[in-house]
Amino acid sequence: MTILVTGGLGYIGSHTVVELLNNNFDVVIVDDLSNSEKFILKNIEEVTGKKPVFYPFDLKRKELLSQVFDAHEIAGCINFAAYKAVGESQEKPLDYYENNLFTLINILQEFKRRNLSNFIFSSSCTVYGQADEQPIDENTPLKTPESSYGKTKQMGEEILKDFATAYQKKVTLLRYFNPIGSHPSALLGELPLGIPNNLVPYVTQTASKIREKLSIWGNDYPTADGTAIRDYIYVVDLAKAHVKALQKLLDETSETVIDIYNLGTGKGSSVLEVVEAFERANHVEVPYQICERRAGDITVAFANADKAERELGWKAETILEEALRTTWEWQKYLQTRI
Ligand code: NAD
Ligand code: WQD
Repeated sequence: MTILVTGGLGYIGSHTVVELLNNNFDVVIVDDLSNSEKFILKNIEEVTGKKPVFYPFDLKRKELLSQVFDAHEIAGCINFAAYKAVGESQEKPLDYYENNLFTLINILQEFKRRNLSNFIFSSSCTVYGQADEQPIDENTPLKTPESSYGKTKQMGEEILKDFATAYQKKVTLLRYFNPIGSHPSALLGELPLGIPNNLVPYVTQTASKIREKLSIWGNDYPTADGTAIRDYIYVVDLAKAHVKALQKLLDETSETVIDIYNLGTGKGSSVLEVVEAFERANHVEVPYQICERRAGDITVAFANADKAERELGWKAETILEEALRTTWEWQKYLQTRI
């Protein structure tokens, strides 16, 4: 059975392709390499011993996309392709709306035209904003995200709900919390372009002395140590959830399905706890300074992921230290490539 994976050479996509191949799905990847590199394809092959089909083009190119559907019998799609830098989305909102929404609509048009179903969308905990209560379950009210990036996720969800309802399609929205870590082989991981915005890539680059010091954005939050709290989920655990979600969609007998799952560990960790866990896991030092809060940051977000456990039989298994150990191995691998 063939699954279309858009953005399949990206961070979460590449790990998910590995899990799909290991579970005997055939995979067709479309990725324009705007935030990934070709060697990831070779590394997927090295890890799995299997060769996914790869098309390097921009999903905004409708005619090329249509040819992929002509060439393969697509049983479902996992749609990772999107721009994801929160800060950049504030400077280039139109690029974000165009890339994240036009690509989505192009794929859905093909699904409609060819009477296909089974669509999984990468959403984000950003759709909850600063929730009034923790942990956050799927019924927690959504808040309009501050960033244009976040808005593309909320709009993408709405587009998919309408798509499922109007055309009787099966759709799953997966709301990721904060994905971290790398593949245990150290052959796959996140490729931050330029200066990383996210915490773990910045910590990793600081430990390897590419950056001088980590700036901790604020230690005056109303938390135990004053730094903000997030739910850091290991990327391989996250990838496995996609296979479970896909299996459930494929097995569904109803014509119309709109499933929503939070994917997190259920445990919140503060910025300082992450830094200390990284130092413990890897026996390296991470110099840091305390700075002002970063604009737009929330105090705390962690998941209630019980629904995913109940309905998908999925649970995050990997502890923070282990995820951070794999990140460091990936960083060392990247340095051998320079
Ligand atoms: P990533 O940037 O590593 O992967 C996205 C991939 O899509 C890249 O390989 C990129 O080259 C490709 N791509 C982007 N636009 C494209 C286009 N127009 N045509 C073809 N390919 C295109 O990102 P990621 O961290 O793997 O995130 C995957 C998805 O999960 C995204 O939709 C992201 O918004 C969502 N998400 C990510 C996080 C996170 O913190 N990483 C959290 C929540 C949700
Ligand atoms: C985590 C914590 C920072 C960097 C973002 C997106 C969200 C989702 C995940 C896609 C915060 C602190 C960070 C640094 C720091 N992505 N920090 N120094 O902000 O929770 O979420 O990624 O959907 O939409 O907004 O993740 O990794 O940027 O920050 O102190 O150099 O680390 O202030 O408290 P965030 P993050």
